[in-house]
Amino acid sequence: MAAQNNTSISPATANPIVIFDSGVGGLSIFNSIQARIPGLSVIYCSDNAGFPYGSRPEAFVIERTRNCLMKLVERFDPALAVVACNTASTVALPHVRSQLDIPVVGVVPAIKTAAQVSRNRHIGLLATPATVERAYTRQLIDDFASDCEVTLVGSSELVHLAEDHLQGKVVAPDALEQVIAPFVDNFEKDNGPDTIILGCTHFPLLSKELAAVAPQHIQWVDSGDAIARRVSSLISQPAVNSVPEHKAVFTGDIPVNGLVDYLQRQGFELEGLNG
Ligand code: DGL
Repeated sequence: MAAQNNTSISPATANPIVIFDSGVGGLSIFNSIQARIPGLSVIYCSDNAGFPYGSRPEAFVIERTRNCLMKLVERFDPALAVVACNTASTVALPHVRSQLDIPVVGVVPAIKTAAQVSRNRHIGLLATPATVERAYTRQLIDDFASDCEVTLVGSSELVHLAEDHLQGKVVAPDALEQVIAPFVDNFEKDNGPDTIILGCTHFPLLSKELAAVAPQHIQWVDSGDAIARRVSSLISQPAVNSVPEHKAVFTGDIPVNGLVDYLQRQGFELEGLNG
């Protein structure tokens, strides 16, 4: 789900957009945006020096998100920024927007969508421990899913498994089974959630693997398509056949592991944010 922003600007086609996350999770949002707007150039920023956000205090997440976004805007002059991290968006968006004069699109758990598609009125939210605790998340549930039972599961483990996955490491199915075990206990009572929200941008990177270890009737919901539509509505469309130039920037060490191959296959050049 896209968190709304009232700013409406039509930026120059040539400017890239920024996609920001604590790690590789925002690449699931990149995939959705890329599928909808293939010619759009993207500056992807991983705050790998601050990773992981999901077990950090709110003040830490606000500070890092705001500082990184300010540096990125100064250096790359983007048309728009996407805070492609639920953990950051649910707490830092007003702080980021008050500092920037470009549209800032936030990514927050797709609770409204899940409530629309759930047939048994029981939905699950799989997110970071921080996101499941946020007042913002509680408010989304009150606003859009007040007639649903909502089972909340916070997992830092799944964030690390998604990072491993993009580095080319094998993710064991039983590790995923353990992550979704709290939902599965419910399934066995026959009144478990029929719809599970992937409320952390890292998790759609493992959507096939999660679906493979879960009961087949489960519907999986994430925010990727909604964010891509929102971005598309806020920018001037790149010319047909324009060739995008993507950069992946890191606040800490530039990776030297399997992630480099993954990013290069997606067309990214790698560099440091501070260098
Ligand atoms: N990808 C982030 C999210 O959407 C969080 C990952 C982390 O814990 O740093 O919540």
